[in-house]
Amino acid sequence: MDVLSVVGARPQFVKAAAVSQQLQDDHEEIMVHTGQHYDAELSEVFFDELALPEPDFHLGIGSDTHARQTAAMMTELEQIVDDESPDVVLVYGDTNSTLAGALVAAKSSPTLAHVEAGLRSHDWSMPEEVNRRITDHCSDLLFAPGSHAKDTLEQEGITEGVFISGDVMYDTLLQIRDELCESEFDEFTVPDEYVLATVHRAKNTDTRDRLAAIIDAFEQLSVPVIFPAHPRTVAALNEYGLWERATAATRIIDPVNYGQFIKLVEGAACVATDSGGVQKEAFYLDTPCVTLRETTEWIETIDAGWNTLVGAEREQIVDAVRAAADPPAKPDLYGSGNAAVRIVSQLERQVDCAD
Ligand code: UD1
Ligand code: UDP
Repeated sequence: MDVLSVVGARPQFVKAAAVSQQLQDDHEEIMVHTGQHYDAELSEVFFDELALPEPDFHLGIGSDTHARQTAAMMTELEQIVDDESPDVVLVYGDTNSTLAGALVAAKSSPTLAHVEAGLRSHDWSMPEEVNRRITDHCSDLLFAPGSHAKDTLEQEGITEGVFISGDVMYDTLLQIRDELCESEFDEFTVPDEYVLATVHRAKNTDTRDRLAAIIDAFEQLSVPVIFPAHPRTVAALNEYGLWERATAATRIIDPVNYGQFIKLVEGAACVATDSGGVQKEAFYLDTPCVTLRETTEWIETIDAGWNTLVGAEREQIVDAVRAAADPPAKPDLYGSGNAAVRIVSQLERQVDCAD
């Protein structure tokens, strides 16, 4: 089976690592990196650390408006899909790279498979909501991380080709956790008690008031806030004149590598984030999460009591972080860390049937 995988942004490298490993023995994987993320700390480090295969094609698209970025990716991908004629095009999550891969594959002959299907924030102002809905509705095979996502697809009329696989990010997390050693933090001292923060969502970085309220909330917390900042957030803090306030309120650092990040999540008293992936990683690592958004696609973590939605209101953030505690029970929400095995065996079955 020939599988063409489209990746481009940080969370996709984490997701693809698990599936790539399962594909490598018996199948041909053509890895396409769109270049959506290009800074070494958002891209190269993941390839090194997670032993992802070197991209066969690096499109080098880079940052641009949504339309121009997506269109540039599609133009390149169309030619590659045409030349390589893969059996399957595999896309992950909800980024512009995902959408570009999905639209190209849907109008071509390969089977389009979407990993992380069926997630919805129901917030159409998020570019990710547009990307994932369109991707799901174009896909032949849809790998849902849990039963809620499968039910969502059914409500939207998608019943064919849907499989509950579990979450591939959990596969990668379990693997790296086994490999982590103690000497990982040479560059800075990790305090005994801290809150770990990440912020990069367009809604929070493109609105000064929201970003300022988040920084003000961090400033009011009595424990240190470790803040590995996405370049988009650094640019916004500078643009809004908030950089000094942010550095006074938090220990702002460059993005860290995946192993370091997982360790920071595990050791934190609480995670405050607007990331999708980090909400789940906090859950897997038994760290309560406060989500700096009004909605989440990972709704089961809220229902289970491990995650609290607070938006970007200063008082709500402070109160939720102070109140954060482990709930008594931890349900099994997104599988047991063998999602990639399930995905690859389902792909094999489908491609065999099609032959
Ligand atoms: C993208 C995804 C988002 C995902 C996130 C993961 C879309 C619409 N958004 O958001 O769903 O959660 O990746 O981190 O696909 N930049 C750099 N260096 C880089 C990449 C980006 O400095 O290597 C800066 C540029 O100024 C760029 C901005 O970040 O304009 C935004 O980058 P972009 O890839 O458009 O969106 P993200 O916010 O990274
Ligand atoms: N991550 C990382 N280093 C960091 C911040 C995040 O390795 O400094 C990892 C994190 O463990 C998760 C992924 O990046 O697996 C999440 O990416 P991001 O929050 O940018 O995207 P989202 O999940 O919101 O799409």
